[in-house]
Formats: sequence, structure tokens, C-alpha cells
Amino acid sequence: MSKPLNIGMIGYGFMGKAHSNAYRQAPRLFELPYTPVLKAVCARNADKVKPFADTWGYESIETDWRKLLERKDIDAVDICTPNHLHAEIAIAAAAAGKMVLCEKPLAMNAAEGVQMVQAVEKAGVANTVWYNYRRIPAVSLAKKIIDEGKLGRIFHYRAKFLQDWTINPEVPQGGAGTWRLDVTVAGSGVSGDLLAHCIDTALWLNGRIDTVCALTETFVKERKHALTGQVEKVGIDDACTFFGRFENGSLANFESTRYARGHKALYTFEINGEKASIFWDLHDLHRLQYFDHRDEGKLRGWRSVHVSDNSGEHPYMDHWWVPGLQIGYDSSFTHQVADFLINLGKGQPTSPTFREAYETQLILDAILQSAKTQQWVQVAKG
Ligand SMILES: NC(=O)c1ccc[n+]([C@@H]2O[C@H](COP(=O)([O-])OP(=O)(O)OC[C@H]3O[C@@H](n4cnc5c(N)ncnc54)[C@H](O)[C@@H]3O)[C@@H](O)[C@H]2O)c1
Repeated sequence: MSKPLNIGMIGYGFMGKAHSNAYRQAPRLFELPYTPVLKAVCARNADKVKPFADTWGYESIETDWRKLLERKDIDAVDICTPNHLHAEIAIAAAAAGKMVLCEKPLAMNAAEGVQMVQAVEKAGVANTVWYNYRRIPAVSLAKKIIDEGKLGRIFHYRAKFLQDWTINPEVPQGGAGTWRLDVTVAGSGVSGDLLAHCIDTALWLNGRIDTVCALTETFVKERKHALTGQVEKVGIDDACTFFGRFENGSLANFESTRYARGHKALYTFEINGEKASIFWDLHDLHRLQYFDHRDEGKLRGWRSVHVSDNSGEHPYMDHWWVPGLQIGYDSSFTHQVADFLINLGKGQPTSPTFREAYETQLILDAILQSAKTQQWVQVAKG
């Protein structure tokens, strides 16, 4: 018998929609010890949040997140707000004894992040951070292949996350839709927004990053603030490139920008090992490219694996359609909900936990420090 787990979600934007869809989908596709119940959704404006609640079937709305945390009928709080609210809400939610599912990046910086880790660990509440790309089946398959040792010694890890939506200097900073350009709300620019995903995947697939050397640029130095109407200095990084060294000796080469004309969300990574290499591309997310040097010479070449086998060989796919049919971006959130509830049933943590996501935060701090000081920086140990 599956038990109810009452969800209180804060924020109903892009991620509010992605998570609500996942709570609806997960129990229909997976056998789960808990069934998510959409108890309440919270945002500041009742007129805006009410239609969202009706669309997704939330039983009630709140307009103050503190009220939501006071409610006895909420088991788990899901934080889908801009970054500057993650710490305050998560720490209060943990103190109220609620489980916490928090959007990425965990925090504005590592100093905030460590307080969040301490809060959930002190309260002993289940917690996870929505670094959802781990749960795209082709990315999970990459993890399986690496853990089986198929790549051998790893030499290179290369990742990119490219967009082009802020090239126009008329795009404002701050306010709904453009809070990502306001450093007081976002904490950082492409590093915390985009590179954070690349770093989380890299830590999971290839282990800890030890040292970094970074370069950041803010191409548009001033923008009008959508809330004040004033032209203000831009405090975020528009682009960030960094090199580094993983603890396993492999070299890191990462790039992220919102100024790569023609690219909307091009997240790619390539890992080169002694025996084999893999490559993945978000625009072709159901495929994993694999090259194995041990293949017979005359047939050696890059294989394009269509990750849709439902016999158990391909992660998560036995819960979906028949072989040959693929799934999309939204499914990564469904998988995270399913994993969270299955792990909860077993009393186990769901990766990345706050503590694991804090590692990404330490790297982000090191990158920004390196770019500022123009020095190599040793990543602090968590
Ligand atoms: N995992 C991913 O792939 C992914 C993708 C996009 C965004 N994110 C993260 O998700 C978070 C939200 O991003 P988004 O794109 O959904 O933003 P969004 O702007 O679409 O939505 C933000 C929501 O927060 C609400 N909000 C703001 N202040 C609030 C307050 N004081 N009280 C209650 N609600 C408040 C807004 O009303 C809005 O509904 C960010 O931390 C972002 O980094 C993660």
C-alpha cells in the first residue's frame, strides 16, 4: 500500500510546472511506497497562483511561504523560487521538520550552502537538490559505463552549456523572467545557473575537482532594472570558462555563456578515457555516443546508442514505452521524484543531497574567486 506524501510547493514558474508534472507522472509509471499529494502551492500573488493550482490539481494555495511551513498537513517542501530564497526557506522548512526538495543551485554561495546542509542534517529530514540531468537515461547510462570501468583511466572531461538569450542589451535585469541577470537574486550568472549543472554531472561521473583556473566576462556592463526602472551595474558573469584538475588526475575544461548566438540550451559533455570515450548532447538527449578502442579495427568508430531498451539494460526505460521510443527532458524530473520516494521508503538518501550539492557550491566559489584574482584556486574540501 502506497502512503500519501503531502507536497507544498513554493514558486509556480518554469520549475513549478516541471515538478508538478513529475509529481503527477511518477506514481503512474513507477511502483512507489509513497504517493505525492499536491496539497498546496505558494506564490505571492493569489490571482496568479490560483489558475496554476487549478491546472495541476493543487488542493489549496498560500501567498506567504512561512504560512505554508506552519501547516501540519505538509510533509515535504519543494523550493522552486529564485536562488536568493533557497537558504532562508530551506533552513526554516528543516526547522519545521519538513523534508526539503530544493532547486539548484543549492545556494547563492558556499557560506549559505553549508548552513543549509547543517539545517537538514540537524533536523534529520530527507533532502535532495534538483540536479535533474543526472536522471536523463543516457546520462545515467554514462554513469553505469564509467562505473563498470569501460573507459579505463580518464584523461579529459569537457563540458559546455551555451545559450544566447541575453545578447540584446535591452533585456532588463531583475523582476519576473529576468531575475537571473540580477546578482542580488541569482548570486552569480552563467556559473551558478548553467555551469552548476555541468559541475554536478561531472562530480557524479568523474569525482572531485581539486583545483580550478577561471575566466569570466560581463559583456553588457549596465542594464535597466525591471523593478526600479534605473540603469544599474550588472553584477553577474555573462560567460565563464574554467580549466581544472580532477582528483583522479584528469583535466577539466568547462565553458558556459549566454552569448553563443544560435544556441538555446546546448549542454554537451565528452569524456575521454584510455580505452573508450563517451559524448552526450542535450539536444539529442536520448542518445549516448560511445567509442571503444577495443573494437575490431575495421569496424571501429563512434556508436550512437539509442537509449530506449526496456529490458533493464538502459536506466529507467523499463518504466516507459517499447524499445525504439524515446522520452524527453520532463522525464528527468519524474525520475527524481520516483527515486526520492523509493529511497524514502528504504530510509535512504537521494543523491544529490544538500551535502553533495554543496560540493558544487564550493567549486562555484573557487571559480569566481579564481576569475577575480586571476590565480589558480584550490577547491575547499566540504
Ligand atoms: N533543474 C533545472 O534544470 C532548472 C531549470 C530552471 C530553473 N532552475 C532553478 O529553479 C529555480 C526557479 O527557477 P524558474 O526558472 O522556475 O524561475 P521562474 O521565474 O520561472 O519562477 C520563480 C517562481 O518563484 C516565485 N517566487 C518568487 N519570489 C517568491 C516569494 N517571495 N514567495 C513565493 N514565491 C516566490 C515566482 O512567483 C515564480 O512563480 C531557480 O533556483 C533556478 O535556478 C532549475
